[in-house]
Amino acid sequence: MYHCCWLVLVALIPVTTGINPGVKVKLTEKGLEYGRQLGMASIQQKLKSIKIPDISGTEHVSPIGKVQYSFSNMQIVNVGLPQSAVDLVPGTGVRLSISNAFINLRGDWRVKYLRIIKDSGSFDLNVNGISISTSIAIKSDETGRPTVSSVNCEASVSSVSVKFHGGASWLYNLFTSFIEKALRNELAKKICPLVDEAVSDLNPHLKTLNVLAQVDKYAEIEYSMVSSPTVSKSSLDLDLKGEFYNIGKHQEPPFSPTAFSLPPQTNNMLYMGLSAFTVNSAAFVYDKAEALNLYITDDMIPKSSPLRLNTKTFGAFIPKIAKLFPGLMMKLLVKTVKTPIISFEPNNMTIQATGTVTAYAIQPNSTLSPLFVLNLDTSVSTQLSVSEMRLAGAVTLNKMNLTLGTSYVGDFQVKSLENVLQMVLKVVVIPQVNAQLAKGYPLPTIGKMNLVNTQLQVLKDYVLIGTDVQFMG
Ligand SMILES: *[C@@H]1O[C@H](CO)[C@@H](O)[C@H](O)[C@H]1NC(C)=O
Ligand SMILES: *[C@@H]1O[C@H](CO)[C@@H](O)[C@H](O)[C@H]1NC(C)=O
Ligand SMILES: *[C@@H]1O[C@H](CO)[C@@H](O)[C@H](O)[C@H]1NC(C)=O
Repeated sequence: MYHCCWLVLVALIPVTTGINPGVKVKLTEKGLEYGRQLGMASIQQKLKSIKIPDISGTEHVSPIGKVQYSFSNMQIVNVGLPQSAVDLVPGTGVRLSISNAFINLRGDWRVKYLRIIKDSGSFDLNVNGISISTSIAIKSDETGRPTVSSVNCEASVSSVSVKFHGGASWLYNLFTSFIEKALRNELAKKICPLVDEAVSDLNPHLKTLNVLAQVDKYAEIEYSMVSSPTVSKSSLDLDLKGEFYNIGKHQEPPFSPTAFSLPPQTNNMLYMGLSAFTVNSAAFVYDKAEALNLYITDDMIPKSSPLRLNTKTFGAFIPKIAKLFPGLMMKLLVKTVKTPIISFEPNNMTIQATGTVTAYAIQPNSTLSPLFVLNLDTSVSTQLSVSEMRLAGAVTLNKMNLTLGTSYVGDFQVKSLENVLQMVLKVVVIPQVNAQLAKGYPLPTIGKMNLVNTQLQVLKDYVLIGTDVQFMG
């Protein structure tokens, strides 16, 4: 016994852990409960739409003889689903059970006997103690979006009671048991196909998962599922790719996601973990697209600053600049020399960027004459926030380290330029980076989702977003 199951487990591992996800999504029991409420409203609508065909027939009653009867215009006036539950079935899916449901209908009855006597009236029929149970299987479709289906639906009706109005009461006994039996079968037959339909109706919504979410002109994020969802006792877990790509040209970075797992929290409906891999894949894309290179000109520096981007300011620190290039404006090119590295430590997201700053004098004929190249190492702290289904950031400078790369204006003390460069980083570069980061990056979304009670926590190697969800429309 022990042996057999261990073997099964071993056989399953390569399938389920083929690719580590960059993003993990966990739906808790609280989230499932919200899903149940939405689901019940949908099932109730479906059951209200049941159409019951007219029933007619003939009975022999002594001493009258042949009695023809018909039931028509049957309409559902009320459907109640007072008790229902959704339960996670580890390894399988979600079990939906509805009990003590009821359906109230009304209709018209009509009889004809002894060739000429006609009688008619109306009736109310209450179908009580309806039990419905089904399993909802969750899989990944060919596009990497979740898809659900209802399997093994069963429905039963425990009692039916009918009350006739109008006509001769002796007739009632005639068809009471008949109509009860006919309608019980008719309804029991119709319930499951409608429940299956209500479950399938979720798929168009699930198909709206933004498996390829465009970010800007450079990047898109892939959120397709990398494996089928897993169901445990307390949550439904989805593994998403969570990788930034260059639009159109999908080049893999020289690093891959490492396994991580979300903490067993249950206060919110949904938890989302974005790994260091995901944000580093973003850095890779923007670096490759040279989107991190920035030319800085004097007009980008606030008017109030006494330090200007000209050979006079820099000449004060490096006299040769003032001597060789008097009275010229300058331009700086800040660029990365390798992909910045982003790391998550508890309560601390840090970006390490290594780059160069090249200074040019702008000749009157617009030619750029290089003055010097500095190597720049910076570390910035990042604050993350979530709004409107987007993850946004804001960085502040931790520290920078400047060293001399190349000089075209002789030797000089790099330290003397530190204040100027720090000012340039703080008033030009970082505000530009922040303006980009403030636009935010789309999170995985289904339909029109609103996030409420959202919390964000930076943990070791990933950022955890816990949130409740509201669907609109
Ligand atoms: C965050 O982490 C970096 C290194 O990973 C460290 O240099 C920095 O001091 C940390 N900041 C805080 C506020 O802990
Ligand atoms: C621009 O001016 C500089 C300095 O006077 C000169 O060295 C350079 O050849 C000029 N370039 C062009 C394209 O005219
Ligand atoms: C600055 O960078 C240089 C060269 O990479 C290194 O030798 C030096 O220790 C760094 N200084 C600081 C304060 O980090």
